[in-house]
Amino acid sequence: MNRREASPTQILDEPLDDPGGAEEGGLNWPDTLDMGRLLGYGRLYPQFPPTLCGGEKGTQMSGQASSPSPLTIPDLAARKASAGKGAPLVMITAYDIVSARLADRAGADLLLVGDSLGMVVLGRENTLAVTVDEILHHARAVAAARPRAVVVGDMPFLSYHASGSEAVRNAGRLLSKGGCQAVKVEGGRRCLPTIERLLAADIPVMGHLGLTPQSIHRLGGFRVQARGVEGAETLIQDARLLAGVGVFAIVLEGIPAEIAQLVTAAVNVPTIGIGAGPHCDGQVLVWHDLLGLTEELSPKFVRRYADLGSVIVDALARFADDVRSGAFPSPEESYHAPADVVASLRGSG
Ligand code: KIV
Repeated sequence: MNRREASPTQILDEPLDDPGGAEEGGLNWPDTLDMGRLLGYGRLYPQFPPTLCGGEKGTQMSGQASSPSPLTIPDLAARKASAGKGAPLVMITAYDIVSARLADRAGADLLLVGDSLGMVVLGRENTLAVTVDEILHHARAVAAARPRAVVVGDMPFLSYHASGSEAVRNAGRLLSKGGCQAVKVEGGRRCLPTIERLLAADIPVMGHLGLTPQSIHRLGGFRVQARGVEGAETLIQDARLLAGVGVFAIVLEGIPAEIAQLVTAAVNVPTIGIGAGPHCDGQVLVWHDLLGLTEELSPKFVRRYADLGSVIVDALARFADDVRSGAFPSPEESYHAPADVVASLRGSG
């Protein structure tokens, strides 16, 4: 039987004929019956069909037998959609193996272990308290999916501000221990020396300009940036400076679409927008926002592609009802001792 078509129950009840084999897709079959692992999500994902997306290097084609090759930083740096070089880049935030596997199967080009995790996963008011260890912890889980997409780790507030050496050490940990292939750094010209230190250490860097959430207090809140001539000119210059030193892409967050278009035309690396209109070389959204997993009202740039919050609550409520009514588990969902064993035990009791 094709293991990828097996249900979790079948897997539990049958011996494994591929113990420990590292299949495409990163599944390591255990050679002992490990209920926790066997009941885990990993067994279910192969049921999802690959997405049809583009047909460029590394993309998954429906019905294609061979596994797609992993994307690389040079692949992504060359994807300047606005200049006719490839399809727009798709970046999705991911914080664990589940989100990483699903986003990768959906055909994302980049998985960002964003410091947004402080808000959407850890329930904080802003991103400022996120630590390198927290990004590392989540990056490991994302990298464990062994995605085709490039994994980018966010450099948290104060992890790259005090000195270049500290920045290199922190970013280096995200690559060497976290499985990231690049880091993201918020800020323009003031970050150039740090970014150059990172690049000199062979650490690929993604820039982030516009509404940079780590500057929330200086900016006075989550406000759209670069609305006026001066702010827009500064932003365009910053983008040129970042591209000039060698960042491989630049996130543009919370700026007018027209300004993002000018920035995109001004640099030779891809821009990836969030709340920056349609003219960027790619787009990024936060996992929880695009899937409808946040309770707060979303900003207008968020498009909710699903209302998974309601789907999940409904499923959990039906489970709770079944437990309370005794409808779960059924005999088919239970293990049974042989009748003679039960009879003997009852007799000896
Ligand atoms: O932390 C994050 O998720 C981000 C994206 C919103 C770009 O920086």
